Amino acid sequence: MMLAKQHYCANRQVCVFVLSLIPGGTCVVNPTDLFCSVPGRLSLLSSTSKYKVTIAEVKRRLSPPECLNASLLGGILRRAKSKNGGRCLREKLDRLGLNLPAGRRKAANVTLLTSLVEGEALHLARDFGYTCETEFPTKAVGEHLARQHTEPKEQNARKKMVLATKQICKEFQDLLSQDRSPLGSSRPTPILDLDIQRHLTHFSLITHGFGTPAICAALSTFQTILSEMLNYLEKHSANKSTGTPDSGQINSNSEKTPLRKTNETPSKDGKMEKTE
Ligand SMILES: *[C@@H]1O[C@H](CO)[C@@H](O)[C@H](O)[C@H]1NC(C)=O
Ligand SMILES: *[C@@H]1O[C@H](CO)[C@@H](O)[C@H](O)[C@H]1NC(C)=O
Ligand SMILES: *[C@@H]1O[C@H](CO)[C@@H](O)[C@H](O)[C@H]1NC(C)=O
Repeated sequence: MMLAKQHYCANRQVCVFVLSLIPGGTCVVNPTDLFCSVPGRLSLLSSTSKYKVTIAEVKRRLSPPECLNASLLGGILRRAKSKNGGRCLREKLDRLGLNLPAGRRKAANVTLLTSLVEGEALHLARDFGYTCETEFPTKAVGEHLARQHTEPKEQNARKKMVLATKQICKEFQDLLSQDRSPLGSSRPTPILDLDIQRHLTHFSLITHGFGTPAICAALSTFQTILSEMLNYLEKHSANKSTGTPDSGQINSNSEKTPLRKTNETPSKDGKMEKTE
């Protein structure tokens, strides 16, 4: 039954029809099973992507923080307009043991991200990451920023500031890379302390998986800009006899190159603030 249903879900009308034929009663629900497929919101012209929505995803949308109601969920799954779509959706959810929240519950505000299913949100995040990587003018921006402070006496302090910034940014990137929020059909084992993971999970649930990878893409861009700043400072350093103690340390273009081990740079924070 479940398998047959999955195949038909590509076509909404047929899907609703077939569902209404499925006898009532509870079935054993595997959260990674497909609930249905929906056409993407953002695809252009004929390149209509279809995204699989798992039962686990529907469950997430019905639970806090979003607590979607029937009309919103129906809209997201593109059922609102089909005749009886709303009722069939409700019946299908009932059969899967998923309850639509009744009455008013505290829910997150609706944003454009609300309309995206996880598959499309992740696709958007990937495209954003790719575009940042290939199109963001990191060199031009890094050099522009570096040029604002080129006085020889400033250079050493500037370099230290950039290095410290890279370090903190890296710590943030490392944290985000350990995010194990449930997404799609995966429910990964957390590796972070649950006290922090639950906050990251909240953000993931609100953005349907878009948020963390998008921030990672931006941080990665920022790291590359900082590397470009260091390169610029290196190239244009006054080469005074006092030298630059940190020279040659980090001028890699790649944000993926590991920086110095943690603990080393943060100790400089106190000094950094004085130089500002
Ligand atoms: C569902 O939620 C949205 C957003 O909170 C609200 O605007 C809408 O009126 C609700 N619909 C129903 C039927 O409660
Ligand atoms: C939703 O938006 C309103 C108005 O901007 C705000 O007062 C409220 O706190 C928001 N609710 C949540 C759950 O963020
Ligand atoms: C300073 O030295 C670096 C090598 O350490 C060199 O690449 C750079 O061109 C020099 N800058 C100037 C202005 O001479």
